[in-house]
Amino acid sequence: MPVTAVIGGQWGDEGKGKIVDLLGADMDLVARYQGGANAGHTVQTGEQTFILHQIPSGILHPNVRCVLGNGMVIDPIALMEELDSLAANGIDTSDRVLLSTHAHIVTPLHQAMDRATGHIVGTTGRGIGLAYADKARRLGIRAVDLTDIRGLGGYILKRLKLGLNQGEIQKSDLPALKTEIEAFLHACSRMVSLLADTVQVLQEAIDRNDKVLIEGAQGTLLDIDFGTYPFVTSSSSGSGGIASGLGIPPRAVDRVIGIFKAYTTRVGNGPFPTELDDAIGKRLQDSGAEFGATTGRPRRCGWFDAVAGRYSCQVNGIDEIYLSKLDILDRFDELKICTGYTLDGVTIDGFSAAVHRLDKIEPHYETLPGWNASSADLTAAEQLPEAAQNYIGRVEELLGVPVTHVSIGAERNQILKR
Ligand code: IMP
Repeated sequence: MPVTAVIGGQWGDEGKGKIVDLLGADMDLVARYQGGANAGHTVQTGEQTFILHQIPSGILHPNVRCVLGNGMVIDPIALMEELDSLAANGIDTSDRVLLSTHAHIVTPLHQAMDRATGHIVGTTGRGIGLAYADKARRLGIRAVDLTDIRGLGGYILKRLKLGLNQGEIQKSDLPALKTEIEAFLHACSRMVSLLADTVQVLQEAIDRNDKVLIEGAQGTLLDIDFGTYPFVTSSSSGSGGIASGLGIPPRAVDRVIGIFKAYTTRVGNGPFPTELDDAIGKRLQDSGAEFGATTGRPRRCGWFDAVAGRYSCQVNGIDEIYLSKLDILDRFDELKICTGYTLDGVTIDGFSAAVHRLDKIEPHYETLPGWNASSADLTAAEQLPEAAQNYIGRVEELLGVPVTHVSIGAERNQILKR
């Protein structure tokens, strides 16, 4: 399948980095279409652990070119840090990172505004929503504008004045902003060498039948349209964002892989029907090391929500599922899966009917036996204990999509094909 997309099926942090790294080995090109440095994709390669925020995890494979698409919002300082850190770890990225001239730029002003207002949603504080807001207000700057650093400096001053006048930026922010803007302009001048006409690059790759992998960031339930609005990110993180975020037609995507964690996590505020605010939730958090790769915040944990999962499969057109972190469920006597909701005394089995009133729903659970055995060293899916096979089978049945791979640890080889 020449063009494959990997999409997060839940509230992000499903383990997409590992899967993109795994699939990336066979790819010619890996592209991101939305979001920015709010993402944190962790890849463990033997001794080394890489946490990538903007560059697709495909970069770890020497022959893969990586596209940062027009739908992204790029943080220049963070991008340069990421490139420097890859270089320091022996990864040669030269000529392999292609930045769309039309990607929007996150400035220190956006970050200051996010720091001041982001607590309501519980954002990552990376200025993402504010950069997308400026894009929609036709106030944004794009990567192509970085070729004129003087003009860019002038623009930043104008935007700063507007921000101060409109109360978006406080006078007390100014000393810190001065230093940040200097570092920002320096990073911008370094970034110019990455600029490319990525629409053309992708069209040519598709015409040549190259293998292209599209990497989603965040997850479907954080999508600005399909997620738990207003507690969402500010981009189209579902497969719907691919065409507008990369400039390829929807029909060019041949296969959509949905990544689901074997339980559910969420970081930031907003409703979470299957959240476990108890010892079981704490156990999932500890054994799953559920702390944000970008902010270090503890992730909220809960049971697998098949109502949300089925919706996610529908809106993304998911063809197959990679189920991650099954090993975290290894030591439970019993496990629960949410199979339906009650809202105002009425049973609901579709997530879209409840998405705007999720804080009011009552989840229905089905209880399944646990397997109480370690899966970390298994080498074939058939070796999984029967209870684990049943758990996976039930997820598959409830979501209506086959689970083709199961991840049982952070290492590259800890994945079982079914
Ligand atoms: P923002 O994307 O920083 O504006 O944050 C909006 C919401 O999306 C917050 O709840 C964040 O915690 C969440 N979020 C953003 N990026 C990620 C991610 O990569 N994984 C998980 N949650 C994320």
